[in-house]
Amino acid sequence: MASVFQKNSLKRVVFLASGRGSNFEAVAKKIRGKKLSCLPVGLVSDNREAKCLQLARSFGIPSFLIDYKSFDNKKDFHNALLDKVDSLEPDLIVTAGFMRLLSPEFVRAYKQKIINIHPSLLPAFPGMNSQKQAIEYGAKFSGCTAHFIDEGVDTGPIILQSVVKIDDTTTEVELSRAILKEEHKILAQAIELFLKDQLKIEGRKVKKLQ
Ligand code: GAR
Repeated sequence: MASVFQKNSLKRVVFLASGRGSNFEAVAKKIRGKKLSCLPVGLVSDNREAKCLQLARSFGIPSFLIDYKSFDNKKDFHNALLDKVDSLEPDLIVTAGFMRLLSPEFVRAYKQKIINIHPSLLPAFPGMNSQKQAIEYGAKFSGCTAHFIDEGVDTGPIILQSVVKIDDTTTEVELSRAILKEEHKILAQAIELFLKDQLKIEGRKVKKLQ
């Protein structure tokens, strides 16, 4: 009886991912190792070729494909994505390398319940190819940001950031690798804070409760 109670009290987490899935994998390992207490109820991908689909299966986490290419228009895709996620009844959604903007309806439905990981120190270098943007800009530091998603592009309240140094010789590949290592850490930390109800959003600011 006790274990049933515990299972029901766990927060339900849905992952959205489009590709390799290393951020998902880092978090799934923590869940499997009981370092993060939650119920991973599914991974949804928009890309039938995505390695993360296979990865989810290897962790015993249900995987679902809402194949962007199989829809005639964006609206139908976004409706299908929202329907699938709704059916999984998540308490938290984690976008871990999900390469599409969520629809305003989706964001409104899960306000303050979607955590994203982004490979730059926001608000610098939002959007795509952030590591390349940082190098081309001549930034001396970049890093990564775990943040809540709002209706803008990478504009939501910041939960955690981690800094990575850029030298004159740092290549885009080297920077991406160094940032990814930090992404894996802060994404898991941000999820843990959420799961433990230790985050309070006040306007743009996310406060950590003790
Ligand atoms: C990560 O670097 C993530 O921050 C980035 O895509 C990569 C996915 O890697 N996301 C974005 O750029 C979103 N704008 P992964 O599939 O190995 O987790």
